[in-house]
Amino acid sequence: MIKRKKYIIGNWKLNNGFAETTKYFTQFNKLLNSDKILLNNKQLFYGLAPSYLSLALATKHKISPTQIIAQDVANVDKGSYTSQVSCSQLKDLKIKYAIIGHSETRKYLGVTDAIVNAKAINVFANKMIPIICIGESLDEYNNKLTKKVLANQIKTILQNIDILNASKAIIAYEPLWAIGSGKTPTFEEIAKLAGFIRKTLTSLYDDTTAKQMVILYGGSVNENNAVSIIKQPNVDGLLIGGVSLYPDKFFKIIRDVKNEK
Ligand code: PGA
Repeated sequence: MIKRKKYIIGNWKLNNGFAETTKYFTQFNKLLNSDKILLNNKQLFYGLAPSYLSLALATKHKISPTQIIAQDVANVDKGSYTSQVSCSQLKDLKIKYAIIGHSETRKYLGVTDAIVNAKAINVFANKMIPIICIGESLDEYNNKLTKKVLANQIKTILQNIDILNASKAIIAYEPLWAIGSGKTPTFEEIAKLAGFIRKTLTSLYDDTTAKQMVILYGGSVNENNAVSIIKQPNVDGLLIGGVSLYPDKFFKIIRDVKNEK
């Protein structure tokens, strides 16, 4: 049986400059250091995604095993691409993970599934791991199109990604209407859709590969609903926006998930 780790990833979005980043890690590291069992727990993966400018500082401040993650990455390695950041630049900071296709990059920066596919191919070519965001809009949810939308997104984004790379991918299911809204699907719906995502991955690759792939849920996760969500079958972790800005709440979620196991 394949046993997947539990993943807890915080996305700071456009928050936390230098002073706040330093302050955050001072508090967060102190909390982590107070729980050696958590610190040494190999079954837990936790990480934070600061904005590009705070990435380097965060890599200096973080203590092991906290991972520092990029919020996005270019689909090309270098050249005339004003404003973009490449995988090799992230690797200079020893960053191995990048979120791609977050709905806010789709909404404000025009990122499409085809672009997310190109980003994913480039991330794997650089021996990094993508955290691929997918999710339906409120309209699509209301019109019962969620499964169709998710299946299409998965198929397009994973095009030309071989089985070996695919097995390392992290898929974050984030209903657009749940992000930052305080609303979440029911636990049953989350379980049903995580199961559907796993089934879609099985049909694209095979059972063993699909079982190795990590599925996260994101959208209005907080310190009260985190454990119930992560306990759902096929949910391997959480992608947390707003609440990850509070080191105490983010730590509490990690600790509660650890205590739950
Ligand atoms: P939220 O954001 O936790 O603030 O809803 C989630 C996300 O955008 O990843």
